[in-house]
Amino acid sequence: MNIAFVAEAGVSQALAILVHEGRALAGSGGEHDKATSGTLTRAMNSSRFTGAPNSSLVVAAPQGIKADTVVLVGAGESGKLDDLAIETAAGAAYHAVKLSGAETLTLDLGHLSAEQAARAAFAVRLAAYRFAKYRTKEKPEKIPSVQTVNIVTADVAAATKALEPLNAVAEAVTFSRDLVAEPANVLYPAEFARRVKELERLGLKVEILGEKEMAALGMHVLLGVGQGSVRESQLAVIQWNGGKPGDQPIAFVGKGVCFDTGGISIKPAAGMEDMIWDMGGAAAVAGLMHALAGRKAKVNAVGVLGLVENMPDGNAQRPGDIVTSMSGQTVEIINTDAEGRLVLADALWYTQDRFKPKFMVDLATLTGAMIVALGLDYAGVFSNSDDLADSILAAGPKVNENVWRMPLPPQYDKIMDSVNADVKNSAGRDAGSITAGLFLQRFTNGVPWAHIDIAPTAWVTKSTRPTVPDGPVGWGVRLLDRMVADKYEN
Ligand code: BES
Ligand code: MN
Ligand code: ZN
Repeated sequence: MNIAFVAEAGVSQALAILVHEGRALAGSGGEHDKATSGTLTRAMNSSRFTGAPNSSLVVAAPQGIKADTVVLVGAGESGKLDDLAIETAAGAAYHAVKLSGAETLTLDLGHLSAEQAARAAFAVRLAAYRFAKYRTKEKPEKIPSVQTVNIVTADVAAATKALEPLNAVAEAVTFSRDLVAEPANVLYPAEFARRVKELERLGLKVEILGEKEMAALGMHVLLGVGQGSVRESQLAVIQWNGGKPGDQPIAFVGKGVCFDTGGISIKPAAGMEDMIWDMGGAAAVAGLMHALAGRKAKVNAVGVLGLVENMPDGNAQRPGDIVTSMSGQTVEIINTDAEGRLVLADALWYTQDRFKPKFMVDLATLTGAMIVALGLDYAGVFSNSDDLADSILAAGPKVNENVWRMPLPPQYDKIMDSVNADVKNSAGRDAGSITAGLFLQRFTNGVPWAHIDIAPTAWVTKSTRPTVPDGPVGWGVRLLDRMVADKYEN
C-alpha cells in the first residue's frame, strides 16, 4: 500500500468526501455538490446514508467531478471529529472501495489539519492489513484493488512529519498481527524468538535464553509447561534504552504459548485451532517494543516473552506434579491447561529480579472466564497499583482498545493455596480470571504490577472497527504505546 499526501485531488478514480451527521457535506463536498447540480445531495436524500460513523455511500460517475466514483463517508457529528472518528472514517472509505477495481483512492481532507491527515493515513494502513501469505487460489475479485491512497492536505510537509511516529506504531501493530496469525507449525518458540531477534535492526537489544539457561536460573515452572513439546522453550528479553542512562526501566511481560493443546489436561477438539493465538500477549509486548524503538521513545523499557508450546507427549507434565519456581515457591499442577500463569510466574519473577523495574505489565490470553465475564470487546485489568491501573484505563478510550478493571480481593487469595505445595495453579470455576490474577500476584514480589487478560480481544471474528480487520488484532500495542507516551516518557 502506497500512501501519499497531496496538495490537490487532481483527477481521481475514487474520491472520498467526509459527510457529517445530517447529510452535511464537509470540506470540498459543497463545491462538488454545486458542480454536479446537487447530485451528491440527491444521492444522499434517496438513500439511508446520513453521515453516521462507519457508513458510506458510493456515487458512480457524477458529471462535473473529476472522479470515476465519489465515496461519501460518514464522519459522525461535526463537532466530534476526534482522532478515533477520523480513523473510523478513513478506514470506512478504504473498505468501501477496496474491492471496487479502483487502484487509487483519494481522500479529500484538505479542510482538516496536517495531524488529522496523518491520522487518516495511519488508519488506512491498519485497515488494509491482510494475512494472505498461505492463500494460493484466491479469486482475483477478492483481492483488494486499491494500491495507492492519496490524502489531500493543505500542508504536505507537516502531514508527512506527523505520520512518522504513527507509521512506527502501524508497523508495530502489523508485526504483532503477523505473529498472532501464524500457525503453530511455523511459529514455534525458536521461530518467534528469531523474529524478535531481527528487531535488533531497530536498535533494540535482544537476548534469547534457551532451556539450559532457564534451568540454571531455576525457572522450572515455565520449563514444565514446555517439557511435553519437541520444540525448545525460549525466553526473549528485549531492551529499549531511549531514556536517560541509568533510569529505572518500565517492564512488559507476555504470555507466548505458541500452541496450547491443554497438555495432559487436554482441550476438546472443537475450536482448538484457536490456540495458535495463545501467544497474543507476547506478540503485543514484541509489538510494543517495536513501536517504542520505531518512534525512538524517550524511555527505558524491557520486554520479556515466555515462549513455549503446551503439548501432551510422554515427557509432558502431569496433574499432581509439584515444580519449583525461580522465586523458590513450589507449585502444584492441578490442571496442565492452566499453563499461561505458569509461564508468567517465572517470567515476572525474572523481570523484577533482573531489572528492578518501576512497574511490570503483563499481557496474556489467560482465561476463557475473562470472555464469560466481559464478552469479546473488553480486556480485564488486574493491578496492585491504582496509579498504574489508571494509566492503562486512561489510554484505552484514546486508542479504541477497551479495558475494564477487575478486583484482586485479598480474601480470595487463599483459594490458590495448595495442601502439598505453596500454591496450586488452578482452583474451582468461580472467579476464574481473578484467581488466575491472584496466582500471578504471588510472583510479583510486591513490585507495582498490572495484568491484562486479553483472551477476549486478541482475535476478532466480527470486527466493528474499520481499522481492525477480522483476525489477529495486535491488541495491546496501541494501548501500551499510548500509555507510555502519555505518562512515562521524559
Ligand atoms: N489459553 C487458555 C485461555 C483461553 C481460552 C484463551 C479461550 C483464549 C480463548 C488458557 O491457557 C486456558 O486454557 N485456561 C483455562 C484455565 C483453567 C484450566 C483454570 C481456561 O480458561 O479454561
Ligand atoms: Mn491452557
Ligand atoms: Zn493458554
